[in-house]
Amino acid sequence: PMIYAITPTYNRPEQIAELTRLSQTLMHVPALHWIICEDATTASEPLQRFLLNLKLPYTFLFAPMPSKYRDDKKMVYKPKGVAARNAGMRWIRDNNKTGVFYFMDDDNSYDLRLFREMRYTQRVSMWPVGLVTGLALSTPVLKDGHLVGWYDGFIYGRKFPVDMAGFAVNVDYWRAAGEVEMPFKTSYEEDGFLRAIGISFSELEFKANDCTEIYVWHTRTSKAPKAKRTIFEPAFDDSNIRILQN
Ligand code: UGA
Ligand code: MN
Repeated sequence: PMIYAITPTYNRPEQIAELTRLSQTLMHVPALHWIICEDATTASEPLQRFLLNLKLPYTFLFAPMPSKYRDDKKMVYKPKGVAARNAGMRWIRDNNKTGVFYFMDDDNSYDLRLFREMRYTQRVSMWPVGLVTGLALSTPVLKDGHLVGWYDGFIYGRKFPVDMAGFAVNVDYWRAAGEVEMPFKTSYEEDGFLRAIGISFSELEFKANDCTEIYVWHTRTSKAPKAKRTIFEPAFDDSNIRILQN
């Protein structure tokens, strides 16, 4: 089965570094199609150059966050990447693809064993995610191979207290479940999506050695210093230049 990796991304100084690292992980994964969805309406020049050099099967889509969320000054936590994930799923639907899809944020770190295991997802597969929330781990808790609970720093009212990186979905199963979309509901995107799909606890397929191994980490890149421009067009300031003299 093919894997469709759906990656939300957005323009900032770290973008090309993140996508370079991610693309070079994906180069080790066979039968994978990368759906890159940018939160924008025009592609920046660095991104265009990145795509021209990309040696992977990919599709690039524009998927801007709807302006009602983007422009809402009072909304502190935005539904990041939701338009992107929905655009990726729509592309899979419109192109009649089969296989498995996985929501792959551009800044996480991925062990290749994860792809070997998720490829055979029948409905929805799940596994632990490291370095996420205050507890630094989010995982289903199993006993003798059966789900007995969840460990996560943000349980609240969630039926599925999991991170975006902690599950993959079979395309045909998603299609039969009505091709559900992800809700624009900050912090409840995963839960809303999984509830809408209608998967039951007993149908979940647990990976990573019964959720005892960590194959993906929710790493976060520290913000680059607020330079006036990105590395592609350095801000030349006399104080940053040392001219060698003989
Ligand atoms: C948190 C959660 O831990 C993730 O599971 C969840 O996917 C994400 O928020 C979310 O809100 O969707 P965090 O590391 O804070 O993760 O989020 P980012 O990595 O900054 O953003 C998630 C994805 O959305 C990334 O791929 C990023 O490139 C993209 N993004 C972010 C946008 O497309 N637009 C933005 O304005 C910000
Ligand atoms: Mn992140």
